Formats: sequence, structure tokens, C-alpha cells
Amino acid sequence: NVEGKGVLNNRISEHIFNNLNQIGIRTHLIKRLNMREQLVNLVEIIPVEFIVRNIATGSLTKRLGIPDGTILSKPLIEYSYKNDEYGDPLVAREHVLEFNWVPDAMHLDKINNYCLRINDFLQGMFRGVGIKLVDFKLEFGNGNVDGKNEILLADEISPDTCRLWDVISEKKLDKDRFRKDLGNIIQAYQEVARRLGIIHEESN
Ligand code: TMP
Repeated sequence: NVEGKGVLNNRISEHIFNNLNQIGIRTHLIKRLNMREQLVNLVEIIPVEFIVRNIATGSLTKRLGIPDGTILSKPLIEYSYKNDEYGDPLVAREHVLEFNWVPDAMHLDKINNYCLRINDFLQGMFRGVGIKLVDFKLEFGNGNVDGKNEILLADEISPDTCRLWDVISEKKLDKDRFRKDLGNIIQAYQEVARRLGIIHEESN
């Protein structure tokens, strides 16, 4: 049931973006309109996926042979060039600057800083409900707020864009249930929404 997943992601992302707004991280979200739609500020999307990792898994382990589950000594930020034709390749900070995907080093430092603050906030939020934030993906855009150019957090933050493991059982509560064919994806997303206090009912 992909419909149910979209509705849950919409609610979870709204909850997170509202909380981030409250700690001074500017986001594109203006408000959620209904079950499936949000009103957002128009942004020119920066063609870089910012991946933040706390625990090694996924492509990091595949690429470098780091043992799955290795706890990183500090958050690791990676950049992927958003380009389907080339398979969203991993790139260096130098590529991001050379090809002007971000205007200059100051802006990139600012985005890196946002990534770390968002990581701190989300780690605490999820830890408080018994979930480990393993890694996640962020996108940013250039937008205009009250006549001022701002870098805004864009896209979404949801179990589709994060890896979330139960603290005790290490059960995956994210899109890896789909990627690894583990089943019960809707139940997992509902579990995340329930723990965050976003939904209260026992099922759909
Ligand atoms: P990865 O280990 O496959 O590189 O994924 C790292 C994190 O980024 C994981 O939480 C999933 C998320 N992600 C996306 O949201 N979209 C993407 O296109 C990719 C590659 C990863």
C-alpha cells in the first residue's frame, strides 16, 4: 500500500520540518495542506544530495568494505551529484565548488553546519523514542523568504530518506524494508509515526 506510505511520510516530514523551523533551520515548508500535499516555498534545488551518517551501512559499507554497523567517531557528510543519468555519483567538496553547485565555500560550510545541527536534533528526537538514526539524506535549495535570498532545507525527511533502527532489536523501521524485501513497510512507518506522537490509532 504505497498510498498509506505517502500519507505517513507527509505527516512525518511535516512534523520534522516544523520542529527544525523552531530551532532556527529554515525550510521550504509553509504548511501541510491535506493528507498528501504541502504548500512550500519555491526553491532552486541545489543538485547535491547531502548524506549524513552516524553508523556505517548501505553504500558506505559496499563501497569501502567498512563492517556494517560500525559506529563512526563523528558524523560523516558525503556529497552525491543529483544526476540520474550518471547514477547520483559520490563527489568531493571540490567538485561541489568547482562546478558551482553551491555558490561558494562559505555557503557550503553553512550547509554542512545545517547538516550537523539537523543530525544532532534528529538523533536526539529519535533516541528519545527508542530509535537509532543511522543515516539520512538532505536536499537544500535557494529560495526567497520575505524578499531575502536564503538557503532552505527542501525535499522531505521521512523513513524513505533516513535509516532508522530500533534501539533494542535493531529492527529496520525505514525504506530498507522495501530495498531488502523485508515486508511490513507500512507497519514500520506507522510505528515511527506512532512513537513520534504523530498518529495515535493502532492501525490504518
Ligand atoms: P546509501 O547508503 O544507499 O548511500 O544511503 C544513505 C542514506 O541516504 C540512506 O538513509 C538512504 C538515503 N538516500 C536517499 O534518501 N535517497 C537516495 O537516492 C540515496 C542514494 C540515499
